[in-house]
Amino acid sequence: MAKSTKDIKALLAEMTLEEKVGQLVQLNTALLGKSTAEITGPAQKLGVDPAQLKYVGSTLNFHGVEEMIALQETHMAEDRLGIPICFMMDVIHGYRTIYPLPIALGASFDPDLVAKCTRMAAKEATAGGVQVNFTPMVDYVRDARWGRVMECCGEDPYLNSVMGAVQVKAFQGDDLSDPENMAACVKHFAAYGGAEAGRDYNTVEISERLLREYYFPAYKACVDAGVRMVMPSFNSLNGVPSIANKWLIEDVLKKEWGFDGVIISDYNAIGELLKHGITDDMKEAARLAFEAYCDIDMMSPGYCKFLGDLVREGKISEEALDRAVLKVLQLKKDLGLFEDPYRGATPEKEAAVCLTPEHRAIAREAAESSAVLLKNEGVLPFKKDVKRVALIGPFAATQAIKGFWACNGEDKDCISVEMGVKNLLPDAEVIAVEGCSAEWNELSREGFAAAVEAAKNADAVVLCLGEPQNYCGEGNSRADIRLPGVQEELASLVLAANKNTAVLLFNGRPLVLTEIDKIAPAILTMWFPGTEGGNAAARLLFGDANPSGKVSMSFPKAVGQCPIYYNHPNTGRPKRKAEEIHETYTSNYIGCGNLPLYSFGHGLSYSNFVYESLELDTDTMTDESTITVTIRVKNDSARKGREVIQLYMHDLYASTVRPIQSLIAFEKIELDAGETRDVTFTVTEPQLRFYDFNCNHISEAGEFTLSTGYADHLLHTKSFWLKK
Ligand code: GLC
Repeated sequence: MAKSTKDIKALLAEMTLEEKVGQLVQLNTALLGKSTAEITGPAQKLGVDPAQLKYVGSTLNFHGVEEMIALQETHMAEDRLGIPICFMMDVIHGYRTIYPLPIALGASFDPDLVAKCTRMAAKEATAGGVQVNFTPMVDYVRDARWGRVMECCGEDPYLNSVMGAVQVKAFQGDDLSDPENMAACVKHFAAYGGAEAGRDYNTVEISERLLREYYFPAYKACVDAGVRMVMPSFNSLNGVPSIANKWLIEDVLKKEWGFDGVIISDYNAIGELLKHGITDDMKEAARLAFEAYCDIDMMSPGYCKFLGDLVREGKISEEALDRAVLKVLQLKKDLGLFEDPYRGATPEKEAAVCLTPEHRAIAREAAESSAVLLKNEGVLPFKKDVKRVALIGPFAATQAIKGFWACNGEDKDCISVEMGVKNLLPDAEVIAVEGCSAEWNELSREGFAAAVEAAKNADAVVLCLGEPQNYCGEGNSRADIRLPGVQEELASLVLAANKNTAVLLFNGRPLVLTEIDKIAPAILTMWFPGTEGGNAAARLLFGDANPSGKVSMSFPKAVGQCPIYYNHPNTGRPKRKAEEIHETYTSNYIGCGNLPLYSFGHGLSYSNFVYESLELDTDTMTDESTITVTIRVKNDSARKGREVIQLYMHDLYASTVRPIQSLIAFEKIELDAGETRDVTFTVTEPQLRFYDFNCNHISEAGEFTLSTGYADHLLHTKSFWLKK
């Protein structure tokens, strides 16, 4: 693609104040390209006069490429300077072919696979007219009650950083003017995932040291990967909402990290400064956001109504305004919009690239690779020569398994479990019985009898359980994260009726599965697997695919343990005895252990991976030297499989308390039956650094350990010393 040669500074010089302000306004399509009569209603709802909507620089969440073309044509016919509108959207885990939720992509521990999925999404979305994507979301999370844990890659800063950076590079490619690439936007800066009590939009109070240690790394990894846009978060952070938080935006994002791309508010986040009680005046809210370097105002009346006046009154300098406008024009230039405002997107192209067999194959591979086999006491894989399979539960036959925030994906495109099992076993009798609802407040047990009858008469039974896909995602937090409704009762009856039963889960967050775990011999979570979920589930259940996912976020034993995460300090009174034993005067609970039911990094396979050794090439390290770690793993089974080799570090003594372990490297490998492999990692001093009490990013001399295995289940721990 020829790079745009548009002289945006010359263009800026021609622009009126209103035209400049317009470039910083983002409104949804209800407010765009319509007659004044059509716009009046939505304008009044927004709190502005339709006449103030003459200039709009970008829009979001439009409905398909036809709408994009129509809106752009209307706009280009009217815009005095021919500055195209920029079309933005949330393409979180697929555009039309939907792959698993990001929390599941994290569970795949497979950056190459995530890149493949991301490229597929970019290809489909750009064909559909999307030019900027409000993804990746990399908010660090510790509380499964929060509905948006589904959107990030879990509770580890390093895993989130790797997967965030991979998505940025895969969405943006090497040349943003290539019409199959789109600009990415990292969100939500910062610490939105630290919402108190796991309740969405709630207050966030986190020390600077903790922010820097856990919450910032993934955002910074995306900035370092060249992300073109950043979206500050809705929440207040240590008393100041991110959209007006100059320390966060100016000191950290811009000065420390050197970010000079576009900063876009979240949806009406400027308007929410009034709700937060920062100001009672929308004009002042606009000024505060602009002073905190917010370039584009998404869907608040602030900029379109007051930014011009603020400049005219000298409260905002025209130089500052010009700087913001130039960043937006630069993004449009780099996207090639001045050469082609449509970037070649057409309905024919969109139809040609979406939902192709190749894309479905990628979605299925991702669903297989991110599923986690949480438990298996010899039940799985089922034999494929079964005559009768009973699929029981609210997820047995439903196609509603694409997950939340699924862009233009449609349930009707999804393969249900029933469809997938029938595809795999055309000669078997497959019976699907819902048994009960998955809704928290639908407690009918009328379907139990038919479910038990079906289970009794089947050779293999799959309990298809979970939470509805709209129980996670934005605004969907839960105070009780068990299986909703009467699913646990259904499971106990079905498991009593047939021991050859496995539980198949559909969940957008870690659930509390303690009661299910007591009675189910096998549990496989698909998270929300997307368009090909049923085919992937069937192949995993019946052994055509071998599970290889690992828990990306701890599954609590009880919601009362939340927030729960593996990389925690030891405390001065760590629990010593077995989980179920309560110890007074130590850090623990009565009636519940401290460990999660399923820990970060846990996941079973149909193979049997034996960790034979972990060796260091030296036990002493300096700032300049490195340590080579060699982990020997054997696939002691008759089945080829993939395993995630994880390397954990512990800094035993330091000037601030250190987590008992931190993931510092991982590699997903495939081992043939009987194969032994040495996997090596190189450890460098920067990987040993932490933020001390004064937020200095340092490493300190002393003893460290390196371990493999997974959190709460370390194997082959070896010590070394860092000398200064
Ligand atoms: C939402 C979300 C944000 C999304 C934006 C545009 O409220 O918080 O993640 O990108 O609005 O849809």
